Amino acid sequence: MNKDIVCIGAGYIGGPTMAVIALKNPRRKVWVVDINAERIAAWNSDNLPVYEPGLAEIVKKVRGKNLFFSTDIEGCIRKCDIIFVGVNTPTKTFGRGAGRASDLQYWESSARTISAAANRDKIVVEKSTLPVRTAEAMEKVLKTHPEHKFTVLSNPEFLAEGTAIRDLLEPDRVLIGGPRTKEGDRAVKELAAIYGTWVPKEKIVTTNLWSAELTKLAANAMLAQRVSSVNALSALCEATGADITEVARVVGLDSRIGPKFLKAGPGFGGSCFKKDVLNLVYLCETYGLKEAADYWNQVVAMNEWQQERIVTRLLSETFHTVANKRVAVFGYAFKADTGDIRETPSRHVVGMLVEEHAKVVVTDPKALPNAERDLAAMPAGSVELEPCPYAAAKGADAIILMTDWKEYTELDWKKIRRLMRSPALVYDTRNCLDLAKLAKLGFKVLAVGR
Ligand code: NAD
Ligand code: UGA
Repeated sequence: MNKDIVCIGAGYIGGPTMAVIALKNPRRKVWVVDINAERIAAWNSDNLPVYEPGLAEIVKKVRGKNLFFSTDIEGCIRKCDIIFVGVNTPTKTFGRGAGRASDLQYWESSARTISAAANRDKIVVEKSTLPVRTAEAMEKVLKTHPEHKFTVLSNPEFLAEGTAIRDLLEPDRVLIGGPRTKEGDRAVKELAAIYGTWVPKEKIVTTNLWSAELTKLAANAMLAQRVSSVNALSALCEATGADITEVARVVGLDSRIGPKFLKAGPGFGGSCFKKDVLNLVYLCETYGLKEAADYWNQVVAMNEWQQERIVTRLLSETFHTVANKRVAVFGYAFKADTGDIRETPSRHVVGMLVEEHAKVVVTDPKALPNAERDLAAMPAGSVELEPCPYAAAKGADAIILMTDWKEYTELDWKKIRRLMRSPALVYDTRNCLDLAKLAKLGFKVLAVGR
């Protein structure tokens, strides 16, 4: 068995994860392959397809030495004996389970490619987030070529976008699930050795396959549930005069609860929380656990309600009409420090504003190219994209701050006040601005949960 690694899928997970593995394992060759030739070309250029603080520096160090990006999927499968599968697993949009179940077509086609291309025994590592017991199906697909032995492991990824490199370099834990057999134990050891070059031993946790697969869904569901819980409380704060930033701060001082993931905001976005919670809902339904399914479904429903609430409140502060008013949306990325706009709350808010006939202008430091594609279907002339926040604010009646980019806290708000029309409304959905200071400058201020 050789030590070289290939990852199928050169996306947000495949690229950064393999870059760090290559950095920390200079003796191994690491290949990242994809069917998307454009994406591979971007990985081989100075303009990487994924923006992550610290990523470009690592890629620069290792690309061409022991990290390679290629479209030769079959060739790399033959070359390498450890195969990660990091392809996308979006929510199914058609047929059985549409809107909840995972669409496993990309994962299955990868499994078929591995099975057909393999020239000897391989370890296959699920890096994508998958429904529990997918490894069983993976084994069945791989067995269509029984001349080679495939050991399937589950190694879900817990990195968050925007902090991916830090999360990879200093993970809370690395999870490896494997079959409890001799080959399984050997494969788990092989995989643990890759991480063991930089992750302390006690942080590499092993479980059975099904626990590993379910843990990934469980972790995302628990995180999403915290966001929905704090957002549900933010609605009650607005109704009662309590302040969600104070409530969350003090609740978080309880060491059993802890301070993280208690920020009220426009609701969770990103490619995974909604999809993974819905996947859990579908799994519960499949196993006849209706009450458990309803419970998790409410986490998503609460998230959608939060974005509606934001627009409802804006309307109630603007005489119930934003028609023909210029509304500047500050931030289109689903969170700061990423250009990723998948499931961004900004899209829902922009959509609702366009329905109200507002003249929307969107600005973002990193996400405008993605926003342009995303908003292409909006009615012509309804949304303008503007890289400069000052130009976006010029003549605006209201600013809705949707993404907590540091750039926005550092703006010259005095200048912005001069550029806007009165009464200049600033709606801070992230609680990251100094509202007292803005009020002093003459802004009318609103914030989520306050
Ligand atoms: P992505 O869409 O950015 O990347 C997936 C890539 O796989 C695409 O470039 C696509 O072209 C490629 N692909 C699809 N089918 C292929 C095939 N048959 N052969 C070769 N390449 C193929 O997705 P992502 O954000 O990297 O997510 C991938 C998986 O990782 C998902 O299951 C996701 O839930 C999980 N995950 C993502 C994150 C994250 O932060 N984005 C974090 C943890 C886990
Ligand atoms: C999340 C998880 O944090 C990762 O562990 C996981 O690997 C990843 O999903 C995945 O499976 O894809 P990510 O979506 O990149 O990572 O970003 P988060 O920092 O978790 O934020 C998700 C959303 O929740 C963002 O829209 C963020 O603004 C929102 N959020 C987060 C809040 O509104 N309040 C908070 O207190 C925290």
